[in-house]
Amino acid sequence: MKVTVVGAGNVGATCANVIAHRELVNEVILLDIKEGTAEGKSLDIWQTAPIDMYDTRVKGVTNDYAATANSDVVVITSGLPRKPGMSRDDLIATNAGIVRSVTESIVKHSPNTIIIVVSNPLDVMTYCAYLTSGFDSNRVFGMAGILDTARYRAFLAEALNCSPKDIQAVLMGGHGDTMVPLPRYTTVSGIPVTELIDTPRLDAIVDRTKKGGGELVNLMGTSAWYAPGAAAAQMVEAIVRDQKRIFPVCAWLNGQYGLDKIYLGVPVKLGKKGIEEIIELKLNADEMALLNGSAASVKEVMAVLDNMPEAAK
Ligand code: NAI
Ligand code: 2OP
Repeated sequence: MKVTVVGAGNVGATCANVIAHRELVNEVILLDIKEGTAEGKSLDIWQTAPIDMYDTRVKGVTNDYAATANSDVVVITSGLPRKPGMSRDDLIATNAGIVRSVTESIVKHSPNTIIIVVSNPLDVMTYCAYLTSGFDSNRVFGMAGILDTARYRAFLAEALNCSPKDIQAVLMGGHGDTMVPLPRYTTVSGIPVTELIDTPRLDAIVDRTKKGGGELVNLMGTSAWYAPGAAAAQMVEAIVRDQKRIFPVCAWLNGQYGLDKIYLGVPVKLGKKGIEEIIELKLNADEMALLNGSAASVKEVMAVLDNMPEAAK
C-alpha cells in the first residue's frame, strides 16, 4: 500500500514519521513545493529506520506528482499554519488556492484515492478538496476531531491523575472555538466523567479544549504538529488496516443531525472505503443547540469560499 503526504512541514513530516514508525504501509511519498525539504526530511526519516527498526520507505519529492501515482490514501497538510493573532479563517484565501491545486494534481494521478485534509481552516479546506476532487464524500474528509478529542482527554487525564488511555470521549462540530466537547459522552473506563469531577473543573477543561489550538500557537509562535501528525496517521491506519474505528471526523453531512450540505465534525466509522458510516447520536436540546451554533459558524466560512472569485480559489 502507498500513502502520499502533501506538505513536508511540521505536520506533514510528523505524520510521515509516525506512519513509518508504525509500518502502516510499505511506501510513503512526502511531497513539498519547497526544493529539497521533502527529500531531506524523508532521508532523515529513512536513516532512523535502522535505529527504530522499521521497513517503511519514505521518499521525498519536490512537486513531482508522478511519484504519487496510485496512492491509496493522500494526506493534505500543505498550507500556511496559523500565526499568533491570526484566526483560522484568516488563512482561507491562501490555503484554498493551495488545497485546490494540490487536489487537482492528486486526483489526476490517484483517481481512486482517499483524501484526508489537515490544512486550515479545516472544515472549509475539506469542502474545497471535495468540490475540486469530484469524489464521493466518503473519500474526502478532514482531520480535527481526533486532535481536539485528544486534547480534551489529555486535560482530563491530568485533572483526574489517571491514564489518558482510559478516557473515552466524543467531540463534535467545527475545528474552531465553537467545537462541541460532549461531557455526557465522556467516560473513564466506562465511568461517566461527571461522577469523577465537579462541574466547574469540567467546564474549565471544556473551555481549554476549545481554545487548545490557540494555546499552542501562543506558546510556540506556530501551530502544533506532534499530536496533529499522529492524529492524521491514526486515520491512515484505520483506512489501510480496514479497522472500522469510530472517530470524530470532519465529514460531509446530507441531512444527518438535521444539517445539510456542510462539512462538520461527527462520529464516523473509518475503514478501507473511507467513511463507512456516519453515526447519529441522540443529542439533547442543549447539545444540539451548540452543534447548530458551530455549524452556523462553519457555514459562514464555507460561504466565503463559495463567494470567492474562481481565480482566487
Ligand atoms: P508548515 O508551514 O510547517 O508546513 C506547510 C508546508 O506546506 C510547507 O513545507 C510548505 O512549503 C508546504 N506547501 C505550501 N504550498 C504547497 C503546495 N502548493 N504544494 C506542496 N506543499 C506546499 O505548516 P504545518 O505546521 O505543517 O501546518 C500545515 C497546515 O495544517 C496548516 O494549514 C495548519 O494550520 C494546519 N493544521 C491543522 C490542524 C488540524 O487539526 N486540522 C492541526 C495543525 C495544523
Ligand atoms: C490546531 O488546532 C491550529 O488547527 C491547529 O492546533
